[in-house]
Amino acid sequence: MAQLWGGRFTKQTDQMVYDFNASVLFDRRLYRQDIEGSMAHVKMLAKQGILTQEECGRILEGLSGILEDVESGALPITSEYEDIHSFVEANLISRIGEAGKKLHTGRSRNDQVALDMRMYVREQVKETDSLLFGLLQVLQRIMEENLDTFMPGFTHLQKAQPVTLAHHVGAYFEMFRRDRSRMRDIYHRMNYCPLGAGALAGTTYPLDRDYTAQLLGFEGPTRNSMDSVSDRDYVIEYLSALATVMMHLSRFSEEIIIWNSNEYGFVELDDAFSTGSSIMPQKKNPDIAELVRGKTGRVYGALMAMLTTMKGLPLAYNKDMQEDKEGTFDAIDTVNACLRLFAGMADTMKVNRAAMEASARNGFTNATDVADYLVNHGVPFRDAHGISGRLVLRCLAEGKALDDLSLEEFQEESAAFGPDIYEAISMKTCVEKRLTLGAPGQKMMRRALEENREYLAQTPGGRM
Ligand code: ARG
Repeated sequence: MAQLWGGRFTKQTDQMVYDFNASVLFDRRLYRQDIEGSMAHVKMLAKQGILTQEECGRILEGLSGILEDVESGALPITSEYEDIHSFVEANLISRIGEAGKKLHTGRSRNDQVALDMRMYVREQVKETDSLLFGLLQVLQRIMEENLDTFMPGFTHLQKAQPVTLAHHVGAYFEMFRRDRSRMRDIYHRMNYCPLGAGALAGTTYPLDRDYTAQLLGFEGPTRNSMDSVSDRDYVIEYLSALATVMMHLSRFSEEIIIWNSNEYGFVELDDAFSTGSSIMPQKKNPDIAELVRGKTGRVYGALMAMLTTMKGLPLAYNKDMQEDKEGTFDAIDTVNACLRLFAGMADTMKVNRAAMEASARNGFTNATDVADYLVNHGVPFRDAHGISGRLVLRCLAEGKALDDLSLEEFQEESAAFGPDIYEAISMKTCVEKRLTLGAPGQKMMRRALEENREYLAQTPGGRM
C-alpha cells in the first residue's frame, strides 16, 4: 500500500477498504497528463520563488525519467499505488530524494485530478473530431460517386419518393458535421485550467495560475476554486456529444443492415467487414453494423451514470467524483472503435445501383409526381391526389408500375393526361425536378458537394 497520507492515522487501512478506494488500475491511463501537469506546476513554483531553480531542475529531470520509463514499459503502474498521483510522487521521491517531496507544494489531488481529466478529455475531443473527419471523407466519396444512383426515399419505412444515394448519405454528412461542431464548442468551453484551486479554497502560496494555464495550453485559469475542483460538466457534455455520435452511427448501421439484407440487396458489405455463421454456410452477417448499433447502449449508459453521480453532490470535491473515469474511458474507447470500424465498413461497401433503382421504380415513388403533373395541367391538388391514388390502386391490382399504364388507361381517370406524362414521371425527372435548396436534384446536390469539399478543406480533423 503506497499512500500519500497517514500521519493522523493510528492503524493501517483495511485491505478491502484500500482496494475499494484505489483508482490506479484505471486512472493510470492519465499518467502523461499527470506528469505534464506536475512539470508545469513546478516550473511555476520556481518562477514564483517557491522552489529553487535547482530543485525545479531535479524534479523535472525525475519526472521526465518516470515518463520515459512508463512509456518504454520499464516502469509498470501497478496496484501497489493508490492512484496515479501517488504513483508519480512516490517514484519521484525514490528517484531524486528530498526535492521530490516538494512537488506537491501548493497543490491538492483535487485540483490535480481535475487537471488530469480535463487534459485527457481535451485530447480525446480532438481525437473524436479527427475520426469524424475521416468518416466524412468516406461519405463525401460515396456521395460523389452516387449522384445519379436512384433509390427510394422512405417514410415509415414505406417507399415514399425517389431520391439518390448521394442525397441519402448527404443526410448523414450533416449529422456528423454537427457532431464535429459540438466537439469544437466543448473544447473551447472546457479549455480552462483548474490547477491552483488547491483542495477547494486556493492556497496561501503566491501561485501564478495564468502562467500554469499558459504552459499547459489552456485559454486561461478557471475562475472559482470550488467550481474548479468539482466541475465535471465537460465530461457530461462530451459524453452527451458521444451519445449523439453513437445515435447517428446506430441509425446508419440500422439502414445498412436493412440494405444489406437478402430482401433489399441495395449494398453488399465487403468480406473483410462481415462475419459468417458456425452452422449456416450461406451466411454473411453484418456484425460490425450490429455491434455499432448495440454498443450505443453502453455509451448512453456512461452519460446516465455520470449525470446521476453528479446530481446530489454538495460542493466541493467528493470521492464520488472518482467515478467519472471508468465509464468515460469505456465510452471513449467504444466510440473511437465504432468510428474507425464504421468508416472502414462504409468505405468498402459495394453499392448495387440496379437493385436500388429497381426498388425505386416498383414502389409508386412517383405517385406524387403524377399528382403534380395534373396540378400543372389545371387540376386542383386534392383532386389530383385522388386520381393518382386510384391509378395506384389499379396498378396494385394488375401488378404493374405507374409507368406501365397506357395513355388510354391514364386518361380513363383524367382527360388532363397527355403523352408527356411518361417523361414527367420518369425516375430521372422525378429526382431532377426536385431543385429546392437541400433537395436531391443533381444541380442542388452538386452545389452541396462543392460546399462539403470546401468545408473539409477548411476544417482539418483535430484542429479546434
Ligand atoms: N483518485 C481520485 C479521483 O479520481 C483523486 C482525487 C483524490 N482526492 C481526495 N481528496 N481523495 O477523484
